[in-house]
Amino acid sequence: MTSWSYHQGKVIKLVINSPRGTADIYGEDIKYRDFISSTVRGVFKTFNFNELITPAFEYTEVFSRSIGEETDIVKKEMYTFNDKKGRSLTLRPEGTAAVVRAAVERKMFGSGNLPIKLFYMGNMFRYERPQKGRMREFWQLGVEALGSDNPVLDAEIIWMLNMIFKRLGFKNLVLLVNSIGCLKCRKTFIQEFKKYLEPGKTGLCGDCIKRLKNNPLRIFDCKVNGCREIAQKGPRISGYLCSSCKTHFKDLTDTLSGLSVDFKISDSLVRGFEYYTRTVFEIISNDLESAQNALGGGGRYDDLVGQFGGPDMPAIGFAVGIDRTIMLMKDLGIEYVPDTKNIRAYLVLIDGECKGYMLEILRYLRDSGISCDINYTSRSIKAEIKKAEKLEFDIIAFLGENERKDDTVTLKGLKDFKQYIVSKNEIVEKIFEIAGRI
Ligand code: HAM
Repeated sequence: MTSWSYHQGKVIKLVINSPRGTADIYGEDIKYRDFISSTVRGVFKTFNFNELITPAFEYTEVFSRSIGEETDIVKKEMYTFNDKKGRSLTLRPEGTAAVVRAAVERKMFGSGNLPIKLFYMGNMFRYERPQKGRMREFWQLGVEALGSDNPVLDAEIIWMLNMIFKRLGFKNLVLLVNSIGCLKCRKTFIQEFKKYLEPGKTGLCGDCIKRLKNNPLRIFDCKVNGCREIAQKGPRISGYLCSSCKTHFKDLTDTLSGLSVDFKISDSLVRGFEYYTRTVFEIISNDLESAQNALGGGGRYDDLVGQFGGPDMPAIGFAVGIDRTIMLMKDLGIEYVPDTKNIRAYLVLIDGECKGYMLEILRYLRDSGISCDINYTSRSIKAEIKKAEKLEFDIIAFLGENERKDDTVTLKGLKDFKQYIVSKNEIVEKIFEIAGRI
């Protein structure tokens, strides 16, 4: 947007840009998004997940209570504001808490329909320091399955995450898996971990010194490398799992192996949300900088549904960063696969007198499901062909006096460059044939 203002007798032109950490998404990026969206929708369907759309903002407690008061997201990164009636609202920083809120509020849990399997895609907001792969408004796709603690479900969810990236064309990603135990076994670990950290606490950043008292697990995902290194040299939660958490994790890893999903156990993976219990996982790329190397991640949150006033019900899910995925696809030269179902025709009016005939053909083609556009300004045929190629149309349809007189259309395929004169009744069939779709 441009506006004008006066300053010391001079007219100044002001250009207003998008807010820091946000992006306008257009052109090629839309094609990548369409490819990702259709690929993941295909995967979600094969795993029997249904879509849920929740609001972009929620009452603040939805996030502050579930994500955890001690997390960076709640402490520093939420876009929180009061509405005109003074109610505190927050732009969603993630999807899980909102899905749980919706499932409880809409009483989605019937008998015999568990686990409920939901997926979502939407924009999320975190006031982070923007850098490559880290934005203040970003897009996620995610899944949540509510109502089962069966480790087969954990394995299916992780398998699905892996399948998404395989179908998108990624080859060298690493899938990290860990168990952080239930609340009971984590208590013992935290006591030991505090004992380990206490003597050398001066090496930690100010935030982590506070975390040491209230929630030392968060030191594992501190943005300061030194703090993470100190945490990683300490005791591991894997040594403190109770027998039921140990069995759960073993069943999960055995099932993943049985499904031929490649994974690595990472006993320092804890993830930055307080709602997690037992299984946590992340899919990372070594081609991304380490602070932003996760393309997706998730975990089990067996206590969250109950905390939202729903039945006590175990659950698990993951989310994938769409912007980060597109960025890496481009960096690695992974191409999107264009939507081949969608045939695109460019109608070129070569005689202004035939506008009525062109509109009749345009309506007929669009009614038949063919995407069309028209030339709004008359230019040379050569220029129109160039434009159609640039805009990746499959076919050009020329319409002039001869065509109108004979009730025909002249079609030109933009792959083979052959030209055909077809009667009006056969145009749809011929377009499919030229585009190679029959
Ligand atoms: P998360 O790890 O915070 O998990 O986010 C998932 C993915 O979103 C990340 O791996 C990353 O690709 C992307 N992402 C996160 N923050 C940014 C950012 N500032 N800019 C760009 N991309 C970003 C969750 O959100 C959990 N709700 C996942 C989950 C679902 N756990 C259970 N169910």
